Amino acid sequence: MRRTACATLAAVLFLAAPAPAPAQELRGHGGPVRAVAASPDGRFAMTGSFDQSAILWRLESGAADKVLRFHQGAINAVASVNGLGFATGAEDGRIALWQGDAAEPARVLEGHKGPVSAIAVSSEGGHLASASWDETVRVVSLADGTARVLEGHKGPVNGVAFAPGGAVVSSGYDATLRIWPADGGAARIVTLPAALNGVVVAPDGEIAVAAADGILRLFGPDGAARAEIAIGQTPLIALALSTDGATIAAGGLRGQVALIDRRTRTIRATLVGPGLPVWSLAFLPDGRTLLSGGADRLVRRWNAVTGEHIGPVVPRAGEDVLAAFQGERGAQVFRACAACHTLTPADGNRAGPTLHGILGRRIASAPGYAYSDAFRTMDIVWSKETVAKLFEVGPNAYTPGTKMPEQRIGSAEDRQALVDWLEKVTR
Ligand code: HEC
Repeated sequence: MRRTACATLAAVLFLAAPAPAPAQELRGHGGPVRAVAASPDGRFAMTGSFDQSAILWRLESGAADKVLRFHQGAINAVASVNGLGFATGAEDGRIALWQGDAAEPARVLEGHKGPVSAIAVSSEGGHLASASWDETVRVVSLADGTARVLEGHKGPVNGVAFAPGGAVVSSGYDATLRIWPADGGAARIVTLPAALNGVVVAPDGEIAVAAADGILRLFGPDGAARAEIAIGQTPLIALALSTDGATIAAGGLRGQVALIDRRTRTIRATLVGPGLPVWSLAFLPDGRTLLSGGADRLVRRWNAVTGEHIGPVVPRAGEDVLAAFQGERGAQVFRACAACHTLTPADGNRAGPTLHGILGRRIASAPGYAYSDAFRTMDIVWSKETVAKLFEVGPNAYTPGTKMPEQRIGSAEDRQALVDWLEKVTR
């Protein structure tokens, strides 16, 4: 009975909307998306998650290009590094530099004795600054690896940014904003009424700080207070500045995300849509699109002028294939996999190997795919039972050390529907 109703509904939907409804969301993380950054050409984004993985995305197609498993802990910060790629900073105190779509970091910066909470790259790309819960900021020369350690904060440092001219600005849980001159002189300290979560500096030197009292505060390059903008009642946890410095996006713990016109000091728009609250925000270089990463494990795109959620424009990877199976539960469940896995040999490997011929296939045997070491040493033959088990207990438990992000399918019925459907479509 239920099935008939479902089939009828699917048929009606199909008639009403013949074109499949593709989405703009980037799907792949198994935990909240804690950090996001876009490449200077706007073609790629990198995200970091509580699931301990970083993902390199192709923004045009919305497909996950690479899932990078290196850090031992949540990834709290991501920044684009001019001419190199991206940097990720994590709970394990390390910073990894990623070049192209290599699966291993090109370089690893160590030295922090606590989680890295934020990273920033100087405008000429020569220096990387990192803020840590170890109460320090480290400024590393990317040319020769020498580090300057900035000490003074009395608690976790949550935000760091470069000012034009090379000064470093940091914000901390100790409610201080500190401006560290490029020449190594004493820091200027500004004490505020609330703990600080993040900081950005505009190309003209103006500083914007996100505070736990829900207020965004603006300062001159010398630390002189200029303006206060109330965003909400709850702590501001995400902050981003458009490349041209005209717009600030600030997001609070309860889900309010405001787009602030820096010139007029007014809230121009508020994001309206699904997926709030957000943990991370980043503008694309053209300033027209804002990316957000949130607790729903997705990265969403928003119109940075109007604050509207950007609807379907570009087909989601695999969506075309799935459209042929509208109304089938197994296809529905596979939506969570489609960003990383294709079903035919022609579509090839994505962030994960093609699942063509998966049932009866030995683990780690798809041609041309770079499996993790963990996968290569395991002795599993994929069957309906083993694939169902993989998502019952989760990849981390079933295949420890795998680079497939942690994800589980809670319902036994859904697992069965998925493997029945895979049996049909991967032969
Ligand atoms: C964000 C990317 C991503 C998502 C989403 C994802 N996977 Fe994977 N999957 C991978 C990666 C990467 C591997 C290879 C793991 C390794 O080498 O450690 C993999 C491996 C596999 C394998 C083993 C393949 C082999 O050749 O041994 C199966 C089966 C699989 N995934 C099924 C799924 C299913 C079903 C879903 C959805 C419920 C899913 N995956 C979601 C990335 C993903």
